[in-house]
Amino acid sequence: VWTTTNVVDEQVAAIREQVGSARAICGLSGGVDSAVAAALVQKAIGDQLTCVYVDHGLMRKGETEQVEKDFVAATGVQLKVVDASERFLKALAGVSDPEQKRKIIGREFIRVFEQAQAEIVAESGAAGEPVKFLVQGTLYPDIVESGGGTGTANIKSHHNVGGLPEDLEFELIEPLRQLFKDEVRAVGAELGLPDEIVQRQPFPGPGLGIRIVGEVTEERLDLLREADAIAREELTAAGLDREIWQCPVVLLADVRSVGVQGDGRSYGHPIVLRPVSSEDAMTADWTRMPYDVLARISTRITNEVSDVNRVVLDVTSKPPGTIEWE
Ligand code: XMP
Repeated sequence: VWTTTNVVDEQVAAIREQVGSARAICGLSGGVDSAVAAALVQKAIGDQLTCVYVDHGLMRKGETEQVEKDFVAATGVQLKVVDASERFLKALAGVSDPEQKRKIIGREFIRVFEQAQAEIVAESGAAGEPVKFLVQGTLYPDIVESGGGTGTANIKSHHNVGGLPEDLEFELIEPLRQLFKDEVRAVGAELGLPDEIVQRQPFPGPGLGIRIVGEVTEERLDLLREADAIAREELTAAGLDREIWQCPVVLLADVRSVGVQGDGRSYGHPIVLRPVSSEDAMTADWTRMPYDVLARISTRITNEVSDVNRVVLDVTSKPPGTIEWE
C-alpha cells in the first residue's frame, strides 16, 4: 500500500544502501521539490549530506531566511549559503530584455553553484571523505515531460535547480522520481517540514528578476518585494492560497503615471497583480477574485510602498498571455 510513511521508509533504506559511507551534495532552491529531496536524504545519511543555497538576491521577502533558518531547524541539515546578490545585480545591470535576463541569471547561477560544489568536494576530499553523489528533486512529471518537452519550455528558457548540468563525476540520487507534486507535499509534511515550505506555490527560478519589466536594480527589487509581501499577506489572510495557483506581482519599472497622493501630485510606477487558476501551468485563467480582497491589496500597496501610485489587475488567460510577464 502507498502511504507516506512507507515511501519515506523505503527511500531512506534505499538511499542508505546507495550512498554507503560516501558523501552527497544537494542544491536548494527554496522550492518544495529540492527541500523534500534534501530532507529525505538528510534523514537517511545525516551529516554525510551538505546542502548548497545560492542567494541570487532575487527572492521574495523572507524566503532566504526560510531556507537558512526554518528549513535548517526542521531538518538539522548542514547548509552552505552563498550570498551572490551583488554578483547577480552586476551581471544584470543595464539589461531589460527578458530572454537575456533569464540567460544571465541561469548562467551566473550555475557558475556560483559549481564553485560552491567544488569547495565542498575539495574540503571533503582533504578530510578523506569523497563526495560521490548529487541529490536532485526530480519528480515523475519532470521525467515524463523532458521526453516531449513542454510548450512553455520552447517559449522561455527556464531556469531551475533541477536543470543544473549533470556532473559526470557524480552519481544522481533522485528520491522523488516516482512521485507527483501532491505526494511530494505529503512526504514533506511527514518529514516535519513547515507548511510555508511544503505548501509553497510555484515560483520561477529567475525570481523577481523576471517580474521587473525593465532593468533590475536594488531599489526596484526592494520596492517589488514590499508590494509582493503585501499581496501575499492579504491573499493568505483571505484564505485564497489553495484556490489561486499563483499570483505574480509585477513592477512596470519603466512606466510612470500621474496620481494624487497625500498633499499633491505623484508620478509613480504601476504594480500589476496576476492571480491565475491552473491545473498544471500549461494553460491558465485569471482568477475571479473577491473585489474586497483586491481593494485591500490595492489600498495597502499604494499607501505603504513609496513610488507606487497605481495597482492594476491582469485579466488575460494563458494562452495568449503567459503566467509570468517575462
Ligand atoms: P509561464 O510564464 O511560462 O510560466 O506561463 C509557467 C509556470 O512556470 C513558472 N516559471 C518558471 N519556473 N523556472 C522555473 O522553475 C523558470 O525559469 C520559470 N519561468 C516560469 C511560472 O511561475 C509558472 O508557474
